[in-house]
Amino acid sequence: MDTNRINELVEKLNKASYEYYVLDSPKISDQEYDDMFLELRKLEEKTGIILPNSPTIKVGGEAIKSFKKVRHEKPMLSFDDIFNMDEVKEFDSRIRKSIECPEYQLEPKMDGLSGSLIYEKGLLVRAATRGDGNVGEDITNNVKTIRTVPLKLTKEIDIEVRGEIYMSFDSFNKVNSEREKNGEQLFANPRNAAAGSIRQLDPKISAKRGLDYMAYFIPNPKDYGIKTQYESIKFLDDLGFKTNLSLNKVCKNESDIEEYIKDLGNKRDDLPFPIDGVVFKVNSLEDEDKLGFTSRVPRWGIAYKFPAKEVLTTLTDIIFTVGRTGKITPNAIFNPVHVDGSIIRCATLHNEDYCIEKDVQIGDIISIRKAGDVIPEVVEVKLDRRENTIPFKMIDKCPKCGSDLIKKDANYFCINELCPARNIEKLIHFSERDAMYIEGLGENIIEEFYNFGYLKDYSDFYLLKNKKDELEGFGEKSINKILDNIELTKEYSLERLIYSLGIPQVGKKTAKILAKKYQTLENLMNATKESLLETKDIAEIIANFIVEFFGNKENIEVINKLINYGVNTKYVNEDYVEDENFKDKTFVLTGTLIDFTRDEATKLIENRGGHVTGSVTKNTDYLLLGDNPGSKYDKALKLNINILSEEKFKELLNIK
Ligand code: IVH
Repeated sequence: MDTNRINELVEKLNKASYEYYVLDSPKISDQEYDDMFLELRKLEEKTGIILPNSPTIKVGGEAIKSFKKVRHEKPMLSFDDIFNMDEVKEFDSRIRKSIECPEYQLEPKMDGLSGSLIYEKGLLVRAATRGDGNVGEDITNNVKTIRTVPLKLTKEIDIEVRGEIYMSFDSFNKVNSEREKNGEQLFANPRNAAAGSIRQLDPKISAKRGLDYMAYFIPNPKDYGIKTQYESIKFLDDLGFKTNLSLNKVCKNESDIEEYIKDLGNKRDDLPFPIDGVVFKVNSLEDEDKLGFTSRVPRWGIAYKFPAKEVLTTLTDIIFTVGRTGKITPNAIFNPVHVDGSIIRCATLHNEDYCIEKDVQIGDIISIRKAGDVIPEVVEVKLDRRENTIPFKMIDKCPKCGSDLIKKDANYFCINELCPARNIEKLIHFSERDAMYIEGLGENIIEEFYNFGYLKDYSDFYLLKNKKDELEGFGEKSINKILDNIELTKEYSLERLIYSLGIPQVGKKTAKILAKKYQTLENLMNATKESLLETKDIAEIIANFIVEFFGNKENIEVINKLINYGVNTKYVNEDYVEDENFKDKTFVLTGTLIDFTRDEATKLIENRGGHVTGSVTKNTDYLLLGDNPGSKYDKALKLNINILSEEKFKELLNIK
């Protein structure tokens, strides 16, 4: 009796959800849905029966500790990018060399992150991110909460489906206004928001973010009798997925293609979800087979990216800031504008030459765009609309301390080593997001603390706790929270500390390389120029800066204070997850591995606490055996060492 009703409710609720989220055409009221949902929940609690496609799964299950790695059966590839019609023509001519009259399926290029879904007998059993294309992360628990991912297909088949996990503009705005209310950092765009949300360890948080899934690819279409890309999408649509069936178009010639690109570009702002271009796929699968792949990408497809959007606004001011090296930078301040999902108010104007070349004047109408992903840029001044403007003039005194400026190459610098702006910038840099991030401590409070004498150098952050009573009342956030957060930074891994020191030219990537190589700050402080030069990606100029930095007495004094206050100076491998199967075990690799490169296998072992050595001895715990093994295999047999096939190795790793 109950089981019949459970079946019926699951069917009805899933149908309603499909009509609402996929077809965008609800047939029952929210109240009816909520009532049925509640009834189902109660019945599930009573009977303990939860069907694998129950909509109650969509609110999210238990949190996990970390994401398991999974290897894709077929690599998840991307297409090469192109940016203009000339490149479209080149692509078309290349295809026409092998295919006489090609047809292209043109589709919106969804702007989220790709996700692979595996269904067995029509039920969702696994979902994974793309990762490096070969190995991704198991995000099944989170994907199960996505409203537009069917837990059960309309056919009981085994199939892998690929598509985009994305966030609609509606969800994006909701998530960001919630974050604003809570004083949390806003997501820059829907793609970052989607990526951040799908990587939550607690599926209940993912579930609340309102993610969606657009299906667009079947890696093994022929298994289902499919002959074209168009049929693939139709097949996915029939299985119950949300697809862009109505926005896709099969085109046969250049003018059709050009029209599609223009049309979609015009529709872009009215679509409820973010897209960033047009994906081209040769429609016939037979033709695709003829074209095949290069070593990296399919030859039968390409991704055309829309040009970055430009927006007009008025330049209201040019202000000059002083960086931590004393460098003076002019910045454009303009009326706030929306670009690609975020509001921007200012953009760097780099230096005097740049301002002269762009001919910027206060009061000008300027066009702005986001260069690359996030950094805003002034594209041009609308000279024909110039009226009553104030010409740009480079300053000759530091805007903070009034000292003279000196010019080095294209840039001006404040000559005052003790310029407060420099010190404040150093403090801000020390506590910024990728450095010794102190949550809740904004730039304004840092400046106030500096002006009141609480912070002279960055080691003083760790003494603030002794001045707690005096600090109450600064800023809006409770000082206790900030002090707690400062204590937390003591545990950060070495690369953050290295980056936070503000060594010229040492960005976060270089800091990570140095942390991995030297393992402790003390080792890095003692490193010679020769040793630094032997490090990957460390050029002579960077090596000089590092040696100079640690040769400076004042820098060493501040660092010693940090060490005394208990700041961690060791490298902590973030991928490290201790695993009993691997901890303190010694592995030797031999032969050619099929599913892993040697580097991958080594990383997998080391990140679980194991070691990889070059030769087999009686202390070896495992020999990982590839094709055509060498003499290590014979030796391991003689010494009775455990031999692991790749399959057994994967079992030990707990990956499929
Ligand atoms: S088909 C071989 N179709 O954009 C690639 N991909 O380079 C097969 N993407 O990372 C994927 N919209 O994840 C396909 N309609 C669409 C897409 C799409 C977005 C993503 C894809 C890939 C990149 C294309």
